[in-house]
Amino acid sequence: MVGHGGHVGRTSVISVLVLGLVLCVATLPGRAGAWGFDGHHATCLIAESLLQPATLKAVRSLLPEYANGSLASLCLWPDEIKRMPNYHWTYPLHYIDTPDLLCSYDYERDCYDEHGNKGLCASGAINNFTSQLTKLQLQGHSRPLLRKAHETEHNFTEALLFLSHIVGDIHQPLHVGFTSDGGGNTVLVEWYTHKTRLHHIWDDEIIERAKDLYYNKSLSTMVDAIMLNITNNSVDQGQLWSECSNGEIACPDTYATEGVNLACQYAYRNAAAGSILADEYFLSRLPIVESRLAQGGVRLAAILNRLFSAKRSSHRLTFL
Ligand SMILES: *[C@@H]1O[C@H](CO)[C@@H](O)[C@H](O)[C@H]1NC(C)=O
Ligand SMILES: *[C@@H]1O[C@H](CO)[C@@H](O)[C@H](O)[C@H]1NC(C)=O
Ligand SMILES: *[C@@H]1O[C@H](CO)[C@@H](O)[C@H](O)[C@H]1NC(C)=O
Ligand SMILES: *[C@@H]1O[C@H](CO)[C@@H](O)[C@H](O)[C@H]1NC(C)=O
Ligand SMILES: *[C@@H]1O[C@H](CO)[C@@H](O)[C@H](O)[C@H]1NC(C)=O
Ligand SMILES: *[C@@H]1O[C@H](CO)[C@@H](O)[C@H](O)[C@H]1NC(C)=O
Repeated sequence: MVGHGGHVGRTSVISVLVLGLVLCVATLPGRAGAWGFDGHHATCLIAESLLQPATLKAVRSLLPEYANGSLASLCLWPDEIKRMPNYHWTYPLHYIDTPDLLCSYDYERDCYDEHGNKGLCASGAINNFTSQLTKLQLQGHSRPLLRKAHETEHNFTEALLFLSHIVGDIHQPLHVGFTSDGGGNTVLVEWYTHKTRLHHIWDDEIIERAKDLYYNKSLSTMVDAIMLNITNNSVDQGQLWSECSNGEIACPDTYATEGVNLACQYAYRNAAAGSILADEYFLSRLPIVESRLAQGGVRLAAILNRLFSAKRSSHRLTFL
């Protein structure tokens, strides 16, 4: 969940592009990483483990050869290209800015980019790429599938990678945060012994710390624990998470509303600029991070399974 664009960040990026330079993300002041590498990797690993056979086959047929059949290995791609001129329009697809302190999300009110283009935000992008993928003509064989992509205006490989990445991002609570602080990107706090941005704590620091303390520094061990927790539940938690109330293939407005609520209840709470955040914050927020990674993974798998395995006719496509 890289770089939620704070206003500072977006302005910097635009000036950089005007100069025609390609700069490394990390050098831009006031911005940071993402559900960083681990967050996206975890979401996609969880999703991959829940794909039905037909879905896995379709997904693999869309992946370039160098991915070696691993969706997770390319889950970070949209972050790698979002500052390139050709892809700069995708920059706002990683987050949603909601009005300060309101703690609510409204597609009509909140989903547009800085030029006022409607639908250019995380929830709009999930609808857009899901809708594109419904047009993929599934065939028994991987080559015809790719040739089909040529015949339409869509690049289904890109649609799959954007969808997989952005379903992760929208589950990072501060990717549905307040407008004026860019989802916590301009909120500087003390994290144990160093200064960082509140957004970065949610993208990376909490996951890193948990991985180091509890999972032998291994992301796959952490993912296994998260998976066990999902399947171990008495109620089928995963089933509940994966359903959309109106039978849509994807329901990003639901994910976004949950996100902004969690941002207010947990991320922003007791974390004003200058706060010192340590064990109390870490221990109480870690379960939220773990459950959002789980939900992101379960929902990505459910969306892909509905697209590529289930009978499509049984799902309403309200966004088409
Ligand atoms: C590709 O995947 C196969 C099996 O999934 C594995 O044996 C092989 O080592 C992988 N190659 C690379 C380059 O990751
Ligand atoms: C949907 O994605 C296509 C690229 O695949 C893009 O050209 C278009 O602007 C997007 N539309 C919205 C509303 O996000
Ligand atoms: C689709 O996008 C990928 C990634 O940008 C690119 O490598 C590939 O050539 C594109 N495919 C088509 C058919 O344009
Ligand atoms: C932790 O990881 C190291 C390798 O990184 C391994 O040698 C060790 O056995 C692991 N310990 C546990 C308890 O899994
Ligand atoms: C599985 O559920 C049981 C009973 O609810 C609980 O005691 C146990 O800790 C759970 N295991 C994991 C890995 O969450
Ligand atoms: C497992 O679930 C419990 C209860 O919901 C939660 O506190 C804990 O953080 C979860 N652990 C993992 C690894 O997901």
